[in-house]
Amino acid sequence: MSFSPSFSRDAASFRPSAIRAFAKLINDPNIISFAGGVPNPDTFPADALASIAEKVIREKRAISLQYGPTRGLPRLCDSIAKIGRERKIECSADDVLVTTGSQQALDLIAHTLLDPGDVVAVELPTYIGGSASFFARSAELAGVQQDDDGIVPESLRELASKRRIKLLYTIPNFQNPSGRLMTQSRRDEVLRIANEHDFVIIEDDPYGELLYVDNADTTPMKSRDTEGRVIYLGSFSKVLAPGLRCGWIIASKEILERLEIAKQAADLCSGTLDQSIVDEFVASGALAPQIERVRAFYRGKRGTLIHALEKHFAGKAKWTSADGGLFTFMTLDADIDTAALVSKAVANGVAYIPGGPFFVDGSGRNTMRLTFAKESDDRIVEGVARLGSIV
Ligand SMILES: Cc1ncc(COP(=O)(O)O)c(C=O)c1O
Repeated sequence: MSFSPSFSRDAASFRPSAIRAFAKLINDPNIISFAGGVPNPDTFPADALASIAEKVIREKRAISLQYGPTRGLPRLCDSIAKIGRERKIECSADDVLVTTGSQQALDLIAHTLLDPGDVVAVELPTYIGGSASFFARSAELAGVQQDDDGIVPESLRELASKRRIKLLYTIPNFQNPSGRLMTQSRRDEVLRIANEHDFVIIEDDPYGELLYVDNADTTPMKSRDTEGRVIYLGSFSKVLAPGLRCGWIIASKEILERLEIAKQAADLCSGTLDQSIVDEFVASGALAPQIERVRAFYRGKRGTLIHALEKHFAGKAKWTSADGGLFTFMTLDADIDTAALVSKAVANGVAYIPGGPFFVDGSGRNTMRLTFAKESDDRIVEGVARLGSIV
């Protein structure tokens, strides 16, 4: 018996993640993996979180084990607004909606703003979890070119002149998957085009704090959003722990109120235990030193990977500098199909994510995403050598 007649029209548009399929391949300890997309568990402050968890469960059960406000725990909203202001976004706790990870924010926004057939402009390449949320609402995804400075304004302008863009989804800080940082002048240009053509921007910023160089300007577009058209997303996943499903939205009042109603229907409130733990951690002043530790942890690994790429791929490929975030993105000769090559790589004990699935226009077959998050320095060096011999 088939239940497909029971499924909604949107369900017919659901797309499974093309990269989760690869994740199954790479849990083998014999394989050196550049394929993951997750933080390294060694960065999770487990002891501090364990004692906070015990404290909030024992001493604050009426909050930590109870339903909470849909907007989020008030003190956490305050702390998030403070983080927003540190990032130069003018905001208060009233402008914040806590979400069950920023992934939920993407889903709520898609639900609230998109009708079937609406055009969502996404970067080429873009984050697959973002595209999944838009596809799930039967939107049409249109790719916008990027170069090393971020979105190419002419490409966005061209799309805006041909199609009515409803939404632009961008990850300006150390993008997943490309690792790129959009320049501030490009951000201004993107904002100008959005103002001219009247579309909403989702500015997704889970990686802005993970920076490994001194001269990177990660100031969000939202800080210069005079019309309230930028919906800013943040997350504790990459700096604290993604198992504490805790992200947030900062948006204008009218949009936020709608998203709050969508969230009521989705889950009433984000997990209050997760929020209580994050709230205590942040309120105790532990976040800033934690971010420093996480940066230090990844900085060396990132250097090792980039150095190894220079040794084995110089003149044969191009890769992004990964001044922050978790990824570098490599572009090989046009005739190399990285998806076809992946089984050979795995047979040789090294794994990566083929770049194709990150491009909504079907391009990018000669690209791959590499993370430096998982492996030790020795294994990074060995893995790049293996990759070099295969390619
Ligand atoms: C660009 C981007 N946005 C959103 C997310 C979702 O993060 P979370 O739901 O854990 O906050 C991720 C996770 O990898 C991501 O890379």
